[in-house]
Amino acid sequence: MRTDTGHVFKLEDYRPSDYLILQTSLVFRLSPEATCVIATLTIERREGVAASAPLVLDGDGLTLLGIAIDGRDLQPGDYAATPDELAVLKPPAASRFELVLETEIAPARNEALMGLYRSSNVYCTQCEAEGFRRITYFLDRPDILSIYTVRIEAPHNEAPLLLSNGNPVDSGALADGWHYAVWHDPFPKPSYLFALVAGALGKVADSFTTLSGRKVELGIYVEPGKERLAGYAMDALKRSMKWDEEAFGREYDLDVFNIVAVSDFNMGAMENKGLNIFNDKYVLANEETATDADFANIEAIIAHEYFHNWTGNRITCRDWFQLCLKEGLTVYRDHEFSADQRSRAVKRIAEVRTLRAHQFPEDQGPLAHPVRPRRYREINNFYTATVYEKGSEVVHMIRTILGAEAFRSGMDLYFERHDGEAATIEDFLKVFEDASGRDLSQFALWYHQAGTPNLTVSSSHNARAKEFTLEIEQSVPPTPSESRKRLMHIPLGFGLVGAGGKPVSYGDVEGATVEDGVIHIRKRRHVVRFTGVAERPAVSLNRGFSAPVTLSVEQKTDDQFFLAGHDSDSFSRWQAFNTLLTDALIAAFRQVLGGKPPAFAQRLTELAGRIAADETLEPAYRALALSLPGEADIARDIGKGIDPDAIFAAREALALAIARANWENFTGLYERLADKGPFSPDAASAGRRALRNILLDYLALLPEGAALATTHFRSASNMTDRAAALTVLAHRHAGSAEAQQALAGFEAKYRNDALVMDKWFQIRAGVPGSKTVETVRALTGHPAFSMANPNRVRSLIGTFSSANQTGFHRADGEGYRFFTETVLEVEKRNPQVAARLATALRSWRSLEPGRQAKAREALLAIAGTEKLSADLRDIVERTLA
Ligand code: PHE
Ligand code: ZN
Repeated sequence: MRTDTGHVFKLEDYRPSDYLILQTSLVFRLSPEATCVIATLTIERREGVAASAPLVLDGDGLTLLGIAIDGRDLQPGDYAATPDELAVLKPPAASRFELVLETEIAPARNEALMGLYRSSNVYCTQCEAEGFRRITYFLDRPDILSIYTVRIEAPHNEAPLLLSNGNPVDSGALADGWHYAVWHDPFPKPSYLFALVAGALGKVADSFTTLSGRKVELGIYVEPGKERLAGYAMDALKRSMKWDEEAFGREYDLDVFNIVAVSDFNMGAMENKGLNIFNDKYVLANEETATDADFANIEAIIAHEYFHNWTGNRITCRDWFQLCLKEGLTVYRDHEFSADQRSRAVKRIAEVRTLRAHQFPEDQGPLAHPVRPRRYREINNFYTATVYEKGSEVVHMIRTILGAEAFRSGMDLYFERHDGEAATIEDFLKVFEDASGRDLSQFALWYHQAGTPNLTVSSSHNARAKEFTLEIEQSVPPTPSESRKRLMHIPLGFGLVGAGGKPVSYGDVEGATVEDGVIHIRKRRHVVRFTGVAERPAVSLNRGFSAPVTLSVEQKTDDQFFLAGHDSDSFSRWQAFNTLLTDALIAAFRQVLGGKPPAFAQRLTELAGRIAADETLEPAYRALALSLPGEADIARDIGKGIDPDAIFAAREALALAIARANWENFTGLYERLADKGPFSPDAASAGRRALRNILLDYLALLPEGAALATTHFRSASNMTDRAAALTVLAHRHAGSAEAQQALAGFEAKYRNDALVMDKWFQIRAGVPGSKTVETVRALTGHPAFSMANPNRVRSLIGTFSSANQTGFHRADGEGYRFFTETVLEVEKRNPQVAARLATALRSWRSLEPGRQAKAREALLAIAGTEKLSADLRDIVERTLA
């Protein structure tokens, strides 16, 4: 484990390296406890660098067994090697030379899952961000692009399959039952994209013919026996390849494309050139074991990793500060893909919900950082919702500002100009400026400045002058180490909505640039006057979620109801209803705190019923509208003095009021939505299941509906319905005989299927209330649980600490004590997973004083532990700062 050195990496310190590594040839002799790695590196001194400049390579926990330059072994005084660094003190005078390094590593003992490790007897690698230096000494930075040739040797019976990046060029038998394979990747790449897989795996094969007629062999490798679970992933891969040709003109470039699913993986998946490695949760699926959400995630992540081939691999990042260059853009691309494959309107709402649930709290708390950070202590902690999701929103805004055509020209220019390079955000913005002739200098602040901007908006109508006025003021709240903010360029989508939902026309506009339904906010305050507006319109703001901002709008409740029923922009229509729900929930929260039973307007609960039954709306859209703002979302909107129990009570009360007001309507719909034909994971079928399952959630709140959940559970013919019913039983009827029975039945049926057991752990960890901490503590001893497996840890501990508000934030602090213990225990093996878990307390300052003090104690207990990893220390210290 790398302990913290306290070193802070700064963007302004970036310097090109003195040396380049033109060719990298690697030989692996695989063995669980002692794998031998021989690296032959063709090194070139950059022009202008003194011959005396030492060559300093990165390492991480390495043991050097041999070192030679141009065929001659180096003598002790010629180099200095520690586990974390190798310095060649007197490099040759020639500008180009060959360095041979031999290291030995123990994949079986690698529990951090970075570098070369073993997952269920399969050798695999993870090198992003800085894992390659755990394999051999190297210039382990993304601006060092090298051509790789990889030879893998292993016992044939243990590892019949030997894979690496690029194209296969040779293979054969060796003595003593060993064999070898050689792979060559013709595209220069940074070390973080290196990959190797070796083991006994089952294969699903297919092929794809590119636009220009080249045939690509596709392979998905899974645990033997699970091949039948890879069909959906393969289909998603072929659709992704086709889509990237159509939407971005990007063709695949190697003869093979392989995906390997492994069961121990720190993240979702990894885009290694020609050899993507996936968390098996994002590959394996059929209706019996996967939910509709799993299918959608698989489709999106398969696409995401595939799209990285151009945005990330062909054009990579100059340094890790530029991480959003590949991630924000690739998330944008996978969002577009899913929107095209499914329903654009539904997809957009889901994206915004995710952004608000994960990125907003980050941006509004102690871990806030710009989309392109300027400093970090541990880069692993910057694979965040800000870099990914907000990074994607920034690209979305560029598209909004430029329009579809100029945006596409900019992308074309990006590929043309930077192919084969390690680029920066400045390079990225420049292509759009050049393609459109627009000035994006103020817009660039979206990359440089942290925090969620807020727009305060009020409107007035002057009937006599036929003038409608919007007053808009922007502010960006202070964030850690950025107290003063500059004014942003915010593209604000809007619409003036008249009777029946029709757009209201207007004449001249003054006070801001308005183009194509977008107001360009650039100053602190704009007074935007629309002339020729005879009747007062309702104003629909941030249509399509054109900018990732919060809004404080003075708006009549009548207008909100009107927009929730009539806005022609489906995102904003959803938003209007969601805002009404949020406002009602906040009022109810205050009533609960004041000791009063919460009350809700009848027209709100009725509107919920009308939306549920509105056949002009897609079922998936209706399901999203009916799913109430989450407890954490409500907490964020309240801001401070959070008592999670009161929020829970308010939310339950609203759900009950909606269920009571719509009993007949909901039961009728619930029955009509029952699935008849065979299962299909397509978006429309998934939408019907989603609507039916949320109706079940409401109905089960009423005494008349309790039995329904049990029936739903028993008659379920797919995992979506089964898991939904089990959640309702376990969360709404915790402790009941029906819930106990269903949980036990599910456990008995799936005890040997780890990915399905994750759902069971999640459901149990999510049971609201004070008893769950004890359940979760006990479940850490369950035979299907393991502290060494990231998926298990995230399902049980992660769900409890970041998705169970009442359980985790138990008033006596027991949830926090459990959290401290487990974070420290996980950290011993896997610092990255521990650091991610630890972010669960990032909003601790918004809690009411009692819980706040206890949360602080828990964080201090972690911070006070000696020899913390860089990953965990960075998170807790920033959280406490
Ligand atoms: N680069 C991966 C992705 O976004 C994520 C990842 C980061 C995976 C670091 C592993 C380690 O597709
Ligand atoms: Zn990515």
